[in-house]
Amino acid sequence: MVTGVTATRPQDITDAVVESFAGCENPRLKTLLQSLTRHLHAFAVEVGLTEDEWRSAIDIATRTGHITDERRQEFILWSDELGLSMLVDALSNSLAPGATESTILGPFYAAGSPVREYGAVLSERPAGTPCLIHGRVLSTDGQPIAGAELDVWQNGDDRMYAVQDPEAPKDHLRGRFHTREDGSFAFVGVRPLPYTIPFDGPAGEMLIASGRHPWRPAHVHVIVRAAGYRTVTTHIFDSASEYIDSDAVFATKPSLLRDFVERPANDPQIPAGVSGAWCSVHTDFVLAPGDAAEPTDPGRTA
Ligand code: BEZ
Ligand code: FE
Repeated sequence: MVTGVTATRPQDITDAVVESFAGCENPRLKTLLQSLTRHLHAFAVEVGLTEDEWRSAIDIATRTGHITDERRQEFILWSDELGLSMLVDALSNSLAPGATESTILGPFYAAGSPVREYGAVLSERPAGTPCLIHGRVLSTDGQPIAGAELDVWQNGDDRMYAVQDPEAPKDHLRGRFHTREDGSFAFVGVRPLPYTIPFDGPAGEMLIASGRHPWRPAHVHVIVRAAGYRTVTTHIFDSASEYIDSDAVFATKPSLLRDFVERPANDPQIPAGVSGAWCSVHTDFVLAPGDAAEPTDPGRTA
């Protein structure tokens, strides 16, 4: 019998794994792997992770992989629901004072939306209460930015984005608009409605099992780009929307809430092409100087 040998402690296991990366020649990779090891092991120790729980986690990760394909990105849904997407967005987009805050891109963006005229209608079939969305694109020093592009997409009263609905016209409720000399833009969308993120997979099971819901408050997505300015990927949220205080993906920010004003059919400011009750929302977008690198969210289409 060997005597005088001390038992291996959990900390010895952590130390051995951290040390295994000591020779990694890529300094960033070394930092990421050593820190990941420390935090992952600390998590397991803190909760006293059982073998059954570890096996369940492996099963969940396996099913997350199986449901993921070029249209469905379940790993990013996990990231969204755990707030990691918003945290990475916050770390990557430190805010210049006064600039419009960013929020997540989401899975329903499709590049190549049609360019539409100032004041044009965004919908290609009836989709709910028409909504005039207008304002200006400005620099942080208050100057109007002419020729800025607003790349817009939103849902309608069926609570779906065009890319989710094979029956919808391809360019329904999406378009690109350019600001005039005074920085102004306008288009007629529809009042957005709350909708559920996909919750028929393992990430959705987590929401249900933990008593959370899969709803997002009503919003309109926009990417604002202009030469010489930092591109901002953001939303405007209907401040009166249900779920405004419990977004399933934590993407609301107080500075992005807007009042959608209800307007009667006989309002003299009714936009061309609109009949019946409508609404309007005023919003400016403020860009910080910088390069207009496109934000990326790889692997997301639906
Ligand atoms: C969206 O806003 O379109 C969205 C964001 C995260 C997950 C699902 C949908
Ligand atoms: Fe959305």
